[in-house]
Amino acid sequence: MKFSIKNGNPEKQRGACVAVGVFAPGKLTEAAEAMDKIAGGYIGSILRSGDMKGKAGSTLVLHNVPGTLCERVLLVGLGKEQEINDKAYRDAVLAAFKALHETGATDATLFLTDVPVKERDAAWKVSQAVIVAMESIYRFDRLKSKTEGAKPHLRKVTLGTTSRAELAVSEESLRQGLAIADGMNLAKNLGNLAPNFCTPTYLAEQAVSIARTYKLKATVLEQKDMEKLGMGSLLAVARGSRQPAKLIALEYWGQAKKEKPVVLVGKGITFDTGGISLKPAAEMDEMKYDMCGAASVLGTISAIAQMRLPLNVIGIIPTTENMPGGNATKPGDVVTSMSGQTIEILNTDAEGRLILCDALTYAERYEPDTVIDIATLTGACVIALGHVASGLLSNDDKLAEELLRASGRAADPAWRLPLWDDYQEQLKSNFADIANIGGRAGGTITAACFLSRFTRKYRWAHLDIAGTAWKSGKEKGATGRPVPLLTQFLIGRAAKKGR
Ligand code: BES
Ligand code: MN
Ligand code: ZN
Repeated sequence: MKFSIKNGNPEKQRGACVAVGVFAPGKLTEAAEAMDKIAGGYIGSILRSGDMKGKAGSTLVLHNVPGTLCERVLLVGLGKEQEINDKAYRDAVLAAFKALHETGATDATLFLTDVPVKERDAAWKVSQAVIVAMESIYRFDRLKSKTEGAKPHLRKVTLGTTSRAELAVSEESLRQGLAIADGMNLAKNLGNLAPNFCTPTYLAEQAVSIARTYKLKATVLEQKDMEKLGMGSLLAVARGSRQPAKLIALEYWGQAKKEKPVVLVGKGITFDTGGISLKPAAEMDEMKYDMCGAASVLGTISAIAQMRLPLNVIGIIPTTENMPGGNATKPGDVVTSMSGQTIEILNTDAEGRLILCDALTYAERYEPDTVIDIATLTGACVIALGHVASGLLSNDDKLAEELLRASGRAADPAWRLPLWDDYQEQLKSNFADIANIGGRAGGTITAACFLSRFTRKYRWAHLDIAGTAWKSGKEKGATGRPVPLLTQFLIGRAAKKGR
């Protein structure tokens, strides 16, 4: 799908389809009004017929509307004019694209970015429209022997605006929206790929291929390299697997090297069986998504490389399977992390923190300004926040605020949980410096507390995406989150530097 922006009058557009909005309970938007005028009141009469009430998410396709130069007019319900928020806007755009895909139209001009959305500017509406449009055509059929159903016909999408002033900012937000959507697609594809394909070696190859595309630097540490560095915690997780573990570093230098980088660390467990603390069978297939943190790092770095953001960003991905086996780590084993701290592994299913802690220590060599780790870390986070918000924990209030702001703008919700010292008590071990589990109470927080023992040298935030990285059930699939949040955060950082 190709996108462009155009300043023009809705009623003068040629082509297969023009989409205009209708407010509830049946009030025309400015664009719809213009259409109605040229059509001699035809659209107004349709509203009076009761076939379109402007309900959010409703649509109606009209053919051969008198006076117009296009083949179809698509009416898109927006809900009440004063109540259009992020969700209503996104739902309306999604409904519009779903309706378009049902038609044979190969091109469409949408006049939806002029609609008033609470607290949002034109730039936001443009980039969100692109992201939602791309989401509407996403499919993962790489592993099917034949593709099911017809592909959408829509090829050319024009975002129409009646105000010339907004054209310049909109071009920029179009590029940002596309970069985010491409980054999300990359993350989704990696997440959805079956775990016999998406192994640590495969992730490393993908990082190298991204590096080649955008001329970045990729480094892949092998098991022997990690042994030399003393990554005893990461390697303890890898012991049960036949697939060799890797530590991937992907470096994007968009600025002078003396500028301290943002480091993104993504959990890359390509399959989590739980290890000797084996998980129950139900839904275990979904543990192929336990590398979605890693996927979001690769997606975000390709997005910022595509935009050529003036910023330095490093991605670090510790990646392995978590498998049982004769050589696997056992509950009770004590290992030494790269930081020198010893860890009593009481539950081999709390493996994410074990690979992340060594990666977080490794991050120190980049003298980072900020480190953010992204991980499908705890089932407890799904209990706390459901599938709506990602969990955010940080040792720095300003950084947490900055991330929450980016999250709001990106329409990629996150919610902060406390990281108070009181919770650290739960990680006490009788036999090592720290235990890898803190009991059932506050599981997301104690997991973050564990990580905090390895992040004392820099500003750090942790995103627990266990509930948000993928959907279960009939619509099972990766969401591409939190690529929008992370990319928006970095766009904000780059803009700040520019000033
Ligand atoms: N990858 C899982 C977390 C997870 C579980 C994410 C379900 C999404 C859905 C993680 O490695 C894990 O197993 N965590 C354990 C930790 C516990 C043993 C302290 C959990 O959440 O049960
Ligand atoms: Mn686990
Ligand atoms: Zn896991």
